[in-house]
Amino acid sequence: MTALLEIAGLHAHYDKSHILHGVHLSIRAGETVSLLGRNGSGRSTTLKTIMGLVQPSAGSVRLAGVDLAGERAFRIARAGLAYVPEEREIFANLTVDENLRIGMQAARPGVPRWTPEQMYGYFPQLKERRHTQAGMLSGGEQQMLTICRSLLGNPRVMLVDEPTEGLAPRIVGVVTDVIRDICRQGVAVLLVEQKLTIALRVAERVYVMGHGQIVFEGTPASLRNAPEVRRTWLEVA
Ligand SMILES: Nc1ncnc2c1ncn2[C@@H]1O[C@H](COP(=O)(O)OP(=O)(O)O)[C@@H](O)[C@H]1O
Ligand SMILES: [Mg+2]
Repeated sequence: MTALLEIAGLHAHYDKSHILHGVHLSIRAGETVSLLGRNGSGRSTTLKTIMGLVQPSAGSVRLAGVDLAGERAFRIARAGLAYVPEEREIFANLTVDENLRIGMQAARPGVPRWTPEQMYGYFPQLKERRHTQAGMLSGGEQQMLTICRSLLGNPRVMLVDEPTEGLAPRIVGVVTDVIRDICRQGVAVLLVEQKLTIALRVAERVYVMGHGQIVFEGTPASLRNAPEVRRTWLEVA
């Protein structure tokens, strides 16, 4: 089956530091893929480079066969890629409802079209606070809001960077369930995770990164059966 998003030979630098060394990965339509790795392995840089927030120094980023590498970030977003950064980007002075409406884009053929009411269905807590300034929300609520705002752009692929980082265990479960449902509805998700248990629960396939390269790819089951990969590239020594 052909890939919806296909990354090949991706290199990226911050000034003179060479961070990504030929990253390759692919995601099919509606597939959930996890990108695992230790802190500093290059996962966030991979997402930022795919999104055009960091300029690739080489390589291709093909969405449905069209190479977007080197394009400006807004064009990449317009092509149907959405990015949920680790830093939870909300407009602190706007209400929850206004934040959601800012994310809305035209419908895209072949992918689900999302509404603010559906977002409030996913996260009733946000509905209760719909007229509250987003800056007043808890970290978990801000994370929910960031995911919802991205989803309202009706993306073909969502790149989500450590969505459960720093959240209370109950909220981790809520956010994880929503991500699984988003995939079930037909949106492809590339999920950067630190927690192996979450990645294995959500993903159909996993990639492991180390030192700016993909060092393992396979199913969750194959990673479960590869203790040396986990020891070398994932577990904290
Ligand atoms: N803005 C930046 N400027 C310079 N170096 C950076 C910057 N962001 C990340 N790095 C470096 O790039 C490497 C990969 O970082 P990152 O992609 O954030 O890893 P991860 O998300 O896997 O923790 C690290 O060595 C990090 O220190
Ligand atoms: Mg990161």
